[in-house]
Amino acid sequence: MASLPIAPPAPAIAPRSLVPRTRPRRRCPTTARAATAGPGEWAPGSWRARPARQIPEYPDQAALEGAERSLEAFPPLVFAGEARKLEERLGEAAMGRAFLLQGGDCAESFKDFGANNIRDTFRLMLQMAVVLTFGGQMPTIKVGRMAGQFAKPRSNPTETRDGVTLPSYRGDIINGDAFDEKSRVPDPERLIQAYGQSASTLNLLRGFAHGGFADLQRVTQWNLDFLRHSTQGDRYLELSQRVQDAIGFMAAAGMTPQHPIMTTAELWTSHECLHLPYEQALTREDSITGMYYDCSAHMLWVGERTRQLDGAHVEFLRGISNPLGVKVSDKLDPSELVKLCEILNPHNKPGRLTLITRMGAENMRVKLPHMIRAVRQAGMIVTWVSDPMHGNTISAPCGLKTRSFDAIRAELRAFFDVHEQEGSYPGGVHLEMTGQNVTECIGGSKAVTFDDLSDCYHTQCDPRLNASQSLELAFAIADRLRNKRNRAWNNWISRVVA
Ligand code: PEP
Ligand code: CO
Repeated sequence: MASLPIAPPAPAIAPRSLVPRTRPRRRCPTTARAATAGPGEWAPGSWRARPARQIPEYPDQAALEGAERSLEAFPPLVFAGEARKLEERLGEAAMGRAFLLQGGDCAESFKDFGANNIRDTFRLMLQMAVVLTFGGQMPTIKVGRMAGQFAKPRSNPTETRDGVTLPSYRGDIINGDAFDEKSRVPDPERLIQAYGQSASTLNLLRGFAHGGFADLQRVTQWNLDFLRHSTQGDRYLELSQRVQDAIGFMAAAGMTPQHPIMTTAELWTSHECLHLPYEQALTREDSITGMYYDCSAHMLWVGERTRQLDGAHVEFLRGISNPLGVKVSDKLDPSELVKLCEILNPHNKPGRLTLITRMGAENMRVKLPHMIRAVRQAGMIVTWVSDPMHGNTISAPCGLKTRSFDAIRAELRAFFDVHEQEGSYPGGVHLEMTGQNVTECIGGSKAVTFDDLSDCYHTQCDPRLNASQSLELAFAIADRLRNKRNRAWNNWISRVVA
């Protein structure tokens, strides 16, 4: 679990390598900020010449530009070296030697911001990573949808309630979710608030990861209070006691449990790269390598609604050096997928590109094999990951959005089955989840029913797995990883013995 080198806490002063070479302080029209790139060349602002979906018009352009200039002057949130290290880890997952656990809120919110929420999601990720690492006997790469996951793509630009139509809520970085005209106006001040909240969240996460909370010797104490004496809580406790026994054994054999590998954890941050004015403003040139990094998070992904080959989002992402994700639904043609891979990873670097499939179990069994074959035929190295959430959103009879635990499990089962059949690696899972005891997804061993949904339904956008459901899923995935490992081992033995 905590078996890998550590990302150091943020230095108070940005390293020279990440201070932008030019800080445009002069007021200039938004589009002029793109003008440094020639035709076909990339620059942090070259996306502005492309069609940009899901970015709303700000009524006050000057205020937006003011916010962008402030962000350009702020310190980076993450560092290039950290992003490079994550890319290496993800390269291991591409080869089947590590497993990615990416998870967190669908959308972080300003009103639910607080230490307890952050701690509980972090703690749940530690627990799940113990379960996965134990089952798979390989490192679990922990990446939070945290410290920047604020912007939401919407299927409809407007929302109608009781005959009143207003612009849709697009995430706290853009507008407010209250259903009134004023709240729904895009407000540039929100970019600054999102940066501040991301910085505080990251600071706390770094503290938890390095300040003793994540010490593997505390493995039995990570159980969340409300999970005590529940099926998943008891399962976790039993497993954590086995881990503690193993630590005891290793200590007796001479290994020091005080080694940083044992006492600290790596946790990376990620979010959807949607609100490009924010992402551009946090992009810095690393003068050691001369590469650009979007220093708003370690990993960025492009969503299902904004991954057009000639669109602004793909244009922006192709030029930054962070590890990238692409959401992939059944609607994406395999040949277009290959083109996307070529644009986003022209040097075919392992770990650079993670394909996050989200299409529902049935579609996955039909479509994913063709995608895997096309990518393989093109010789592209990618990390295949399953997001079993976004292809399984339904409306409950009460009108709330929900997802069924069984459908989520079925999609994961299909993901593992297809990769087994194709001889490719199931490299990870991408979940909307929270350490809170919410009732947003139905099912699971501590069953949430349609009638329970309104008891504790807090999500800012899509329904999340609660802690019990998340742990249950981790155990199911760990079983698959264990079976896969046993099969590989048995095959090896029979080859050696034959
Ligand atoms: C999300 O991850 O919250 C999301 C909107 O996903 P997708 O782009 O796959 O719909
Ligand atoms: Co979502």
